[in-house]
Amino acid sequence: MASTSEVTIEYLGPKGDGIGKGQRGRVYIEGGLPGDRVRAKTWRGEDDIIRGEVTDIIAPSQHRIQPPCKYYDQCGGCTLQHAKADFYRNWKLGVVEGALKKLNLHARRWDEPVFIGGGTRRRATFAVKRVRDKVVMGYYKRRSKEITDIESCLVVMPEIIKMRDTLKPFLVDIMQEKRGLDVFIQYVGGAYDVVFTGPLGVKGEPDMRTREAVADIARKARIARIGWRMHEREDIEILIENQKPTATFGELRVGLPPAAFLQPTLEGEKALSDSVMALMPNKKGHYADLFSGCGTFSGPMLARGSVDAYESVDPAIKALVKAKGALPLKAFKRDLFRNPLRRDEANRYDAIVFDPPRAGAREQAQALATGNVPLLIGVSCNPATFARDARILCDGNYRLETMRVIDQFTWSHHVEIVASFSRK
Ligand SMILES: C[S@@+](CC[C@H](N)C(=O)[O-])C[C@H]1O[C@@H](n2cnc3c(N)ncnc32)[C@H](O)[C@@H]1O
Repeated sequence: MASTSEVTIEYLGPKGDGIGKGQRGRVYIEGGLPGDRVRAKTWRGEDDIIRGEVTDIIAPSQHRIQPPCKYYDQCGGCTLQHAKADFYRNWKLGVVEGALKKLNLHARRWDEPVFIGGGTRRRATFAVKRVRDKVVMGYYKRRSKEITDIESCLVVMPEIIKMRDTLKPFLVDIMQEKRGLDVFIQYVGGAYDVVFTGPLGVKGEPDMRTREAVADIARKARIARIGWRMHEREDIEILIENQKPTATFGELRVGLPPAAFLQPTLEGEKALSDSVMALMPNKKGHYADLFSGCGTFSGPMLARGSVDAYESVDPAIKALVKAKGALPLKAFKRDLFRNPLRRDEANRYDAIVFDPPRAGAREQAQALATGNVPLLIGVSCNPATFARDARILCDGNYRLETMRVIDQFTWSHHVEIVASFSRK
């Protein structure tokens, strides 16, 4: 049951909630900043934590600003547009430092952080709903199934919003009434890759008429490829491919599978791969890229020798095999959670780069910790699992050398890390 409390916010938690003391103990207030005195609607969450949202600001924090986006209060996309840039940046660095400190980890050197800024995200998923002839296309409101129809977004590239506007009027003809559809748009190498997730056409599965309509949309909207799947995580069926979207990583030019994982911004990808390459040995060698995706790091690493890429997603591996040509690249499909690279396999490499999903790479870190690889380079989008895996490596044969924070998830609580570990 919800109630109202007055709270003074003391600090910001790692997910961007303002944390303070209310009448019933510690409370996590969405939209609160340290120094704010607020009135908040509060409730006990399923996790037994008291959460809340600001209803009134009694006295504002010195870090507070007017959010730049007009949809900020109605859209669940961003969490921290209401904070001054300096405060926001220090908080992001503090989240990473805090995760390391908690596990008693110390880097020998912190490299200059990189903040990418808004207007750069090259992919977005829009929630769409059709009621009679009206289509709403935008992002979900916070903690809600309601969609805010958005015509601008300060986070994504202008090309993404342009395509959202172009696609919207076409969707009424292919969508089922009152049923939702997710529309993923990725803009890469000057081409649009679009994936519809959800029921299409009269039957739900695209029939001949719907397929023709989709091909027509692709032609009129100049979309390189449109794919479809009924549910998230299912294989994507290509409905129309006028051109294969491609990405270039160093010398490697990869024809991408539908909705391929790419770093969310091109600028972030460059900052990450420049950071990885600055840490790589400056000599020819034999290297491994674990959790390689479609080769974001394998490509640049090829400039320093031969590269073995490991990844569990089949289309990504097939794309790499197809792209490699005469380059000294091998691509292996492997589930590195269940079947991590063994110590004897890992020891063949002069350096290993690992860039796991948010869950981290616990099993792989355990296997590497007792090995002899001279240099490990870790990339991570989750400070907590990164710190856990770094602790495993440092309890073994490794020392944490360098850390760099790269923020390509502007105004969210997410942050990227590049770190290096040397053999003790
Ligand atoms: C954060 S992404 C990084 C991809 C790539 N390094 C890049 O920068 O584009 C993590 C990658 O790990 C892959 N992955 C997830 N679980 C995996 C597993 N159990 N074994 C191997 N790869 C996995 C995902 O498919 C994804 O490509």
